[in-house]
Amino acid sequence: MEIKIVKTQNKKVKPEPSTLGFGKYFSDHMAMMTWSQEKGWHNARIVPFENLSIHPASTVLHYGAEIFEGLKAYRRKDGGVQMFRPIENVRRLNRSAERLCLPTIPEDMAFELLTKFVEVEQEWTPSNEGTSLYLRPFMFGNDETLGVHSVHNAEFVIIASPVGSYYKEGINPVKIMIENEDVRAVRGGTGYAKCGGNYAASTRAGKRAEDKGYSQVLWLDGVERKYIEEVGAMNVMFKINGKIVTPMLSGSILPGITRMSCIEVLKSKGFDVEERLLSVDELVSAMKDGTLEEAFGCGTAAVISPIGELMYDGVKYTVNGGKIGETTQMLYDILTGIQWGKVEDTFGWVYKI
Ligand code: PLP
Ligand code: COI
Repeated sequence: MEIKIVKTQNKKVKPEPSTLGFGKYFSDHMAMMTWSQEKGWHNARIVPFENLSIHPASTVLHYGAEIFEGLKAYRRKDGGVQMFRPIENVRRLNRSAERLCLPTIPEDMAFELLTKFVEVEQEWTPSNEGTSLYLRPFMFGNDETLGVHSVHNAEFVIIASPVGSYYKEGINPVKIMIENEDVRAVRGGTGYAKCGGNYAASTRAGKRAEDKGYSQVLWLDGVERKYIEEVGAMNVMFKINGKIVTPMLSGSILPGITRMSCIEVLKSKGFDVEERLLSVDELVSAMKDGTLEEAFGCGTAAVISPIGELMYDGVKYTVNGGKIGETTQMLYDILTGIQWGKVEDTFGWVYKI
């Protein structure tokens, strides 16, 4: 595939690593590719980072035809840059595209544009402990008409943002509120797709939680409000009586790549991992009788985030004395070790640029 590259004449000053936070700064370039029903995917390009110009009737602005991905490039100790399981993000992007009737991208094409982009922007990968270059591929429907139908025109874009930790707590435990009013997704809906609409619908509950001093909400299933699903920006896992329990992929939660990786690491360490329905009642009982040993979230932005407090129906439950548990710490060490190239990657997960 031909990728046109136009380098910027005005390179930005890179931010101080200690001020990074999440998603506040953007690199010098962005990658793009255009799709139309007549031409398919065409005009792959890497161009200076700039505002997008779209028609006021563009499909994305009215009917939310948008999907995205999130993955990271990490700076190794030897100075090189590597990504973590990038092909899984390409595959999930296509599953999301299929659900939203957006065009899928041949895997090799999306992968080539992504890797070329990271090669061009690699100097933006920070090297301080816990930092990385967050990559945000996204696609939107771009028809210039108000009719509601599957799109005939779309844009695929990749932007990059040097980041530190997602939560202000870093690796310290976060407080999470179990939400029993709003719901995020239902089976048959778009819960398993990474589409902007899922996040827009989540914002109200997220804001209510933040106002009460919680980082995010833990969703219950959209039909019975009985089963644990996932947190706003991460999947969840619980250590109950020595076993790891995590909600099964029922169609309404995001199949996280970190989740999948945690399961593989845990199994390789001899843990029993149960992917199943977990009711909030079972979780509350485990919190009351002390069999809930650890709780944590996992995701690209969130990495491994211990949960130190859960609130349900106005009652606060402290998990593991509000401290990170040993299994959570072990997973954090192994995953981040592989991601930053400090631990041997026996799984074959990293892709070196
Ligand atoms: N669940 C939600 C709702 C998310 O936004 C994310 C983040 O991407 C995840 C789970 C974790 O997915 P992954 O590990 O692929 O980043
Ligand atoms: C990610 O972890 O990549 C996400 O997309 C979470 C997010 C919505 C910030």
